[in-house]
Amino acid sequence: MIWKWNNSFTSLLLTLSIMTCPSLQSRLPHVGTTIFTVMSTLASEKGAVNLGQGFPDFSCDPGLIDAVTRAMQKGLNQYPPMAGVPTLREAIATKIEAIYARQYCATTEITITAGATQAILTAILSVVHNGDEVIVLEPCYDSYGPNIELAGGITVRVPLTPGTFRPNFDNIAAAMSPRTRAIIINSPHNPSGTVWSASDMQQLEKLLAPSNVLLISDEVYEHMVFDGQQHQSAARYPGLAERAFVVSSFGKTYHVTGWKVGYVAAPAALTHEFRKVHQFNVFTVNTPVQHALADYLAQPAPYLNLPDFYQEKRDLFRAGLRQTRLKLLPCEGTYFQCVDTSEVSDLSEADFCKWLTSEVGVAAIPLSAFYAAGYDQQVVRFCFAKKTETLNLALEKLQTL
Ligand SMILES: Cc1ncc(COP(=O)(O)O)c(C=O)c1O
Repeated sequence: MIWKWNNSFTSLLLTLSIMTCPSLQSRLPHVGTTIFTVMSTLASEKGAVNLGQGFPDFSCDPGLIDAVTRAMQKGLNQYPPMAGVPTLREAIATKIEAIYARQYCATTEITITAGATQAILTAILSVVHNGDEVIVLEPCYDSYGPNIELAGGITVRVPLTPGTFRPNFDNIAAAMSPRTRAIIINSPHNPSGTVWSASDMQQLEKLLAPSNVLLISDEVYEHMVFDGQQHQSAARYPGLAERAFVVSSFGKTYHVTGWKVGYVAAPAALTHEFRKVHQFNVFTVNTPVQHALADYLAQPAPYLNLPDFYQEKRDLFRAGLRQTRLKLLPCEGTYFQCVDTSEVSDLSEADFCKWLTSEVGVAAIPLSAFYAAGYDQQVVRFCFAKKTETLNLALEKLQTL
């Protein structure tokens, strides 16, 4: 009896609180549940092999976990300095100088972030004012548009060339206006797997030279470039580095996407503004993990060996896909492989992915999810950051197509 009374009293309170909740005006009215969540949920409901969302299904180096444990046991568990643990910032500066030949000052030019996602949002919030335009090249990572909107900016979307996903500098030039505050680039590129060449970077450098346009260079896949090509970091190009927030992610490099630790390297004036937002956004990032990463980054082998590690997975996956009616697109970098589905089906990309997950048992992501207006070109993306047995299982299923 008392239980019943309590329950109805609670429902009454809940009803009252729902009724009295003030009306809300969404800051992001166009944002709903992402296709990544939809496909992952469907994949787990159907027991499908999940090659949709981009994360490894294998463990990181146990040495890295030991390093975090050691840091915790040493008592390194309180707030670190706002900009990040100094030894980690120094290790990053050393790495960037060794591989991209640019010196960043660890004290004033490198900031540790809660993954690349926070780095990109913070960079945008720190420089984009109401009404400023920011150019993004579509297809692109889905956080860019909402981040620009939160800053009060206007997203100017320039398509990468359909089919090849290469930048078209005439189109980028045409999109620039006196209100352009920044451009966001991403190489190696999610979702297409293309990698910008030295000539691409030089063309961008030339285009931006006479302007005040800032660059946000999303380089989270910097250590996943294949076939002997080199990653062309914005840090390598003086005319780009002087205006760039160069963003990277330890989650991608060390197979620990859930740790959410990344960094931004930018000239002191940009870093100064970046940190003003950073300190009232996250303030600081996980201390023991930063200490562990500082130790781990001191050895270059893990990131230097990463291209071979992923190239082997790419080659295995591509060889298996050649035995299907899915048409392979090039994959120069990242851990994503795109395929053209037009010989298998007439379905739209999103319907194809739902069908593939439910009926064939393999989850993929439609490329249309990376375009604000949902452009459909019958291309879907698989993630091959998976154990050999996972890739073989997926290939067995795909070979029935
Ligand atoms: C292009 C791109 N940028 C940024 C991120 C976010 O990286 P992080 O997990 O470090 O926030 C991702 C993750 O998938 C990505 O693909």
